[in-house]
Amino acid sequence: MLEDIEKVLVTEEEIDRRVKELAEQISKDYKDIDLLIVGILKGAIVFMADLVRELTISAEFDFMAVSSYGSSTKTSGVVRILKDLDEDIKDRHVLLIEDIIDTGLTINYLLRNLRSRGPKSLEICALLSKGSKQQVPLEVKYLGFTIPDQFVVGYGLDYGEKYRNLPYVCILSSEIYGGIS
Ligand code: IMP
Ligand code: MG
Repeated sequence: MLEDIEKVLVTEEEIDRRVKELAEQISKDYKDIDLLIVGILKGAIVFMADLVRELTISAEFDFMAVSSYGSSTKTSGVVRILKDLDEDIKDRHVLLIEDIIDTGLTINYLLRNLRSRGPKSLEICALLSKGSKQQVPLEVKYLGFTIPDQFVVGYGLDYGEKYRNLPYVCILSSEIYGGIS
């Protein structure tokens, strides 16, 4: 697996530091507030697992799984819910945890869907964003890192379901995925 990696973009140390900063900010913002953290499966689980253990407030968890129609490396904006929330989020304070915002189409769909259920508040926490490619304006309140427009894996992110368990965010060598933009 390690021979497939071309370059580490975000190191374990950088992730660790940023996760702690985000957790501190979230703990402050949601002090004395009942928080429901919603992880978007599967990509967000590694980030979420690290983030929640740094929180100094208590929070409930829930999960959603979505799939976007399209190829394995591009989203189309048409999102299918594979697993819905267990909880009713009406009047709840909800924080969505996402691995990466690329075009923003997936999260935009999720926001519209969840907003229609009447949460008291709904914010986004994403590990990564490819700033330049965003097609829809989104307010991401908690963002880990802005990265260049390159396909990345690791720390939850996959290529064909592989590489999620790498502890850093990296680019694969061109032999593995020639021609991905
Ligand atoms: P968007 O709808 O274009 O914002 O894409 C969001 C989803 O596409 C993410 O939740 C990821 O599952 C996937 N994705 C986008 N960019 C990457 C990447 O660079 N590596 C791995 N998955 C990605
Ligand atoms: Mg994926």
